[in-house]
This record gives sequence, C-alpha cells and structure tokens, in this order.
Amino acid sequence: MDIRLLRPSDIPLIQHANLENLPENYFLKYYLYHALSWPQLSYVAVDASRPKKTPYDYPKIVGYVLAKMEEEPADGVQHGHITSLSVMRTHRRLGIAEKLMRQSQLAMVETFSAHYVSLHVRVSNQAAIHLYQQTLAFSCERTEAKYYADGEDAFCMRLNLDEIR
Ligand code: ACO
Repeated sequence: MDIRLLRPSDIPLIQHANLENLPENYFLKYYLYHALSWPQLSYVAVDASRPKKTPYDYPKIVGYVLAKMEEEPADGVQHGHITSLSVMRTHRRLGIAEKLMRQSQLAMVETFSAHYVSLHVRVSNQAAIHLYQQTLAFSCERTEAKYYADGEDAFCMRLNLDEIR
C-alpha cells in the first residue's frame, strides 16, 4: 500500500470513495479547493498491487484524508482540520486510516506550524471514535447538537500537535 499526497487528478476517485463511505458529500470544487489551497495536507492510499492494464488505467484509491488549515481560527491559534477521512470496506482494519491521519498531522506541523488539529465525528461512529481517541489520542472537547443534516449530534475532537513540533 502506498500513501502519497493527493493530486488534483485523484479528485474524481476521492469523490467516489466519499460517496461510497460517508453521508457527508461535497461538490467537486470543494475537493479542488483543498488540493489547491493546502496541497501538503491531503493524502491518498493507493493499492499498488493492482495491475495496470493500459497506460491510461487509473490507480486504485482505497482511502483518503482531506484536510485543511482553519483560515480564520476563532481562538486565534493556528490549527488544522480534518474535513473527511475514509477507507474502502475491502481495505479496512489494515492501519490505513491511522497512516493517512499521521501523515496529514505531521504536514500540518511541518508546513503550517499548526498547534492542534480538530475534527467532527458522528456520536454513533464507533470505528472512527476508536481510531481518533484510542489510536491517535484525540480528546473530545464537546458535543455539538444536531450538527449533521439528519439531526445526529457530533463530537468535536482535537489533538494537540505541540509534542510533534
Ligand atoms: N470498530 C472498532 N474499532 C475499529 C473499527 C471498528 N469497526 N475499525 C477500525 N478500528 C480500530 C482499529 O482496530 C485500530 O485500533 P488499534 O489502533 O487499537 O488497533 C484503529 O481503529 C485504526 O484502524 P485503521 O485500520 O487505521 O482504520 P481503517 O483503515 O479501517 O479506517 C475508518 C477507519 C476511516 C473509520 C473506516 O472504518 C471508514 O472509512 N469508515 C467509514 C467512513 C468514516 O466513518 N470516516 C470517518 C468519519 S469522521 C471524519 O471524516 C472527520
């Protein structure tokens, strides 16, 4: 499995993965906005074992993390934000999400001197909550009521990045 930076040409495949894996979907231009504004922060996992049948064959993208810097942080502290993360069902529980997250967190510190990274997660999303809290050591800051379009609450989580600065 290769983890590499997101390229603008990957965006249709990322959008496909997002539609497959999450109810929160975005217009193509929102992905492009991330890729062009913070090209250092978003990564994809590519299944390198998949044979390329023609020179025009697309790589198989099995996971992505889409990330950004908060442009006008309310607390005045430079920090990153995870907009979306997903791994295809066929490739879950292999450590791909953890690797994608760690790459992005490192880039937030190295490129933008981020002090912390934040994200929202559905309160019912046990897999993602385990990844964020147990594996990556995020803490839950608060619950945001009815954050999602279907009325579900979100946990607002954050990870201090000062230790890896
Ligand atoms: N139940 C419990 N724990 C789980 C589960 C699960 N279903 N899946 C993974 N984990 C644990 C792993 O055991 C591992 O724990 P460990 O470090 O204690 O061994 C840890 O989570 C990390 O596992 P990875 O293999 O890195 O995770 P994976 O590549 O399978 O991806 C993800 C996890 C992204 C949550 C995946 O299940 C997925 O794509 N789900 C659908 C989309 C989604 O929910 N995305 C997150 C939304 S929040 C956001 O985007 C900001």
